[in-house]
Amino acid sequence: MSLMASYTVIGGPSSEQLGRKIASKLKSKYIGSELRIFPDGESKITLKDKLKGRILVVQSVYPPVDSNLVRALALVSEARRYSSHVYAVVPYLGYARQDRQFLPNEIVTISLVAKLFKAAGASRIIVVDIHSMMALEHFQIPAKNVTAIQELVKYFKKLNLKDPVVVSPDMGGAQRARNFADLLGVQFIALEKHRDRKSGEVRIKSGNHHKVRGRDIILVDDMISTGNSIVKAAQFLKKQRCGRIYASCTHALLIGDAEKRIKKAGVTRIISTNTIPGKTGIVDVSPVIAKAIV
Ligand code: R5P
Repeated sequence: MSLMASYTVIGGPSSEQLGRKIASKLKSKYIGSELRIFPDGESKITLKDKLKGRILVVQSVYPPVDSNLVRALALVSEARRYSSHVYAVVPYLGYARQDRQFLPNEIVTISLVAKLFKAAGASRIIVVDIHSMMALEHFQIPAKNVTAIQELVKYFKKLNLKDPVVVSPDMGGAQRARNFADLLGVQFIALEKHRDRKSGEVRIKSGNHHKVRGRDIILVDDMISTGNSIVKAAQFLKKQRCGRIYASCTHALLIGDAEKRIKKAGVTRIISTNTIPGKTGIVDVSPVIAKAIV
């Protein structure tokens, strides 16, 4: 007899494939959703079956961020009508980077997002490799971060890399990169990145890193958005005459021509997870999410 509780898993419009995989890992019923967008931009979601039991709503909040957020909240609100156990599984949570005031009078929007999930009826929220744990402190429901690092490391273990070194593009991501390096059993370094808070411009401030000469690099970050952080880090490392450069992240937003610019900067390959579907999203996070649920 299985001791696993039974769930109903809703795959929201942004996370259908991942929702299916999570349902299969939990041996639970999967319910898909159909999205219609009206000419004025409103979303209308229709569920493909009836809801019951403990319900998981799987819906990443990537671009269009505001629309995907409203869709997540609508699904949670609908689920709450049928269950008092509604888990919001938001593998990529947009707005998480707005977790504190960087400049005076800025609005900390994650605080509103946190209130909205509670108001919609979520009893808990599960995210993957959130930008900072501070974002989760705004939630007044149990909030859990799960990491995809071990899954990404499993992938890199299969590659035949030359004396690899793990590099964090900034000090803020140093602990993440250190964990990645420890699991892979290799060295790590962190670069010093400066981002202008007004213009968004990124600069790498570090001096020479002779440690990287001739060695393959794995750049590790939580997310790639415009690609500027990875581009600057790759250009810096290439000047230090490193070997091949791989970029690994959990969430690959790859806005605009980010992928093209990253490749042009000398990155051989980008490897990310399926928190955001796309051609780089080859590492599956459903095992770690399913494990966090049971
Ligand atoms: C910043 O601290 C984050 O960890 C990422 O490095 C950053 O958000 C990536 O953004 P972009 O690709 O636009 O540089």
